[in-house]
Amino acid sequence: MGEKVWYITTPIYYPSDNLHVGHAYTTVAADALARFHRLKDESVLFVTGTDEHGQKIQKKADQAGQSPLEFVSGIVEFIRDPLWKRLGISYDDFIRTTEERHHDVVQEIFRRLLEKGDIYKGVYEGWYCLPDETYWTESKLVEGKCPDCGRPVERVRQESYFFRLSRYQERLRQYIIDHPDFIQPTSRRNEMLSFIDSGLEDLSVSRTGISWGIPVPGDPEHVIYVWFDALVNYLTAAGYLRDPAQFSAVWPANVHLVGKEIVRFHTVIWPVILMALELPLPERVFGHGWLLIGQAKMGKSLGNAVNPIELLDRYGVDPVRHYLLREVPFGADGSYTEEALILRTNVDLANDLGNLLSRTTAMINRFAQGGVPARVVEADDGILSREAAKVSGEVDEAMQNLSISDAIGAIFRLVGRANKYIEEQKPWDLSKNQQTIQLSNVLYGLWETLRVVSVLLTPFLIDTPARIREQLGLDTPVLHYREAEFGFDGKDIRVDRGEPLFPRLEKPQAIVPDQVSQEESLIGIEDFQKLQLRVGTIRACEVVEGADRLLKLTIFDGQRDRTIVSGIRAHYDAAALIGQQVVLVANLKPVTLRGIVSEGMLLAGSSDDALSLVAPITPLPEGARVK
Ligand code: MSP
Repeated sequence: MGEKVWYITTPIYYPSDNLHVGHAYTTVAADALARFHRLKDESVLFVTGTDEHGQKIQKKADQAGQSPLEFVSGIVEFIRDPLWKRLGISYDDFIRTTEERHHDVVQEIFRRLLEKGDIYKGVYEGWYCLPDETYWTESKLVEGKCPDCGRPVERVRQESYFFRLSRYQERLRQYIIDHPDFIQPTSRRNEMLSFIDSGLEDLSVSRTGISWGIPVPGDPEHVIYVWFDALVNYLTAAGYLRDPAQFSAVWPANVHLVGKEIVRFHTVIWPVILMALELPLPERVFGHGWLLIGQAKMGKSLGNAVNPIELLDRYGVDPVRHYLLREVPFGADGSYTEEALILRTNVDLANDLGNLLSRTTAMINRFAQGGVPARVVEADDGILSREAAKVSGEVDEAMQNLSISDAIGAIFRLVGRANKYIEEQKPWDLSKNQQTIQLSNVLYGLWETLRVVSVLLTPFLIDTPARIREQLGLDTPVLHYREAEFGFDGKDIRVDRGEPLFPRLEKPQAIVPDQVSQEESLIGIEDFQKLQLRVGTIRACEVVEGADRLLKLTIFDGQRDRTIVSGIRAHYDAAALIGQQVVLVANLKPVTLRGIVSEGMLLAGSSDDALSLVAPITPLPEGARVK
């Protein structure tokens, strides 16, 4: 038997409208997982697609004066290109439920279940939620409305085929108990167990009076229920009944990634279909949270949907992916705001990562004439190599657990550690004091860390890993996760000082010119020259007892240590500041704050909740004038 293919799916989306950032969220997450497993040399099948049948689509097409197929085809094309293409979605297969390969599999499954008696014909009388395409019994309604979306339901009475969910209730319950990883996160598993315990009734799986769907075999008055049709896509794409060799390599799926509102379809109806077909169940169904606007789910129906193409136009693919994958712990709900996207980009990508790269390439140019120094093992302190090894292990583990945001968090911890290492090692002093072995090791360590970071970021970001590598002097793509460890020989490689990786972004409203009268606020150069701004290095830092906003800093300004009290405690950990360079106003009259004489002021940028100290991009001698 060949190797098991790692099979991951997204929900197949309704092409009833253009997709929004909420849909992009699931798809980008699945893409990162697929790319991660490919980087680990696994064969991967990553499938996404569109769920094209059903009454809702038919209505939309009627309104647009088009046939349903014409109507959806335009949207489907847009989803594939430009939407998924520009987001870098590396799907292996895109399945449309209107394809013949799917039509045949759905009908054959229906036929088999009819034959087994798991599907039978009866009369359905109850309620139907059209926007959700979901059947409900009277007892499950909440105040007469759909319990999922709160919208009105319609009364339906018709001949129908039923799927015997009730027959499988106990088996399903036991399966979920015996397989604790089947439904994730655990909170969703508990919800599903109580749903099952409240009783499973047989499910209506056909409708009459509509034509846009797959007909019941032998009874074409009836069209197969859209959710039955949709769930089967996972089997169709795996080659079920069509390509036995592919199917046995691919099935069962490793992960079905879905939004939390459709976990029930995937962990009740879907496993019972598979049990009835005597097929193994997927390894995991992971129900992630929602992107919210304020308190509400982002969605078309609430009119608060954000268009991903606009975000891509404005920010580019990597800031958008980084934000979606990093901002919210995968599984939880999280608020979407454009301000948070900008802040994420500035803090992680422009500042932490961008600065590390520009400082490293600048120092290799300045202190090693642009050549990557060799590592001299005896003098190595191993700080960065150990941290890199630890982080690549953590990223691996987090990705196996689908903790995508934690994985990225670990990578940026490594970036932060390397930035701190520069301050600790002070390569400029090592150069001045001609400590050449230690200098080589430090520069090599920083270069290696960035190379490892380029490997670790490969599943998440599209252009950035190659852009980092280009500046590091590497023209080879990342091929394997194994490369995420120290030991690369940088001999004969010359670094390049390229463009900053990410320009710092302005807040959208900050781009608008100030309201203040321009005349009034202009100053002459002579005013500016009154300010003495100088570079200093923080030597010590402690909290000011009894003042929850203040830190007391000792800063070397090139001539002496001076004390500065600054209101930045909410934004910085005292210990983490030691060794950092800052810019201070050196000719400010001293003031006494909480009994401490403060001799100057630190420059910091701020907006709303964010604050960041101003520092030179590459280290400068203390006392250097800022002008
Ligand atoms: N067609 C069904 C799925 C069938 S799968 C066999 C469907 N389609 S959908 O177009 O409504 O897409 C739903 C999926 O989009 C959700 O499960 C979720 O993955 C994603 N999201 C839609 N809005 C979202 C948010 N606001 N936040 C996060 N994900 C969201 O349901």
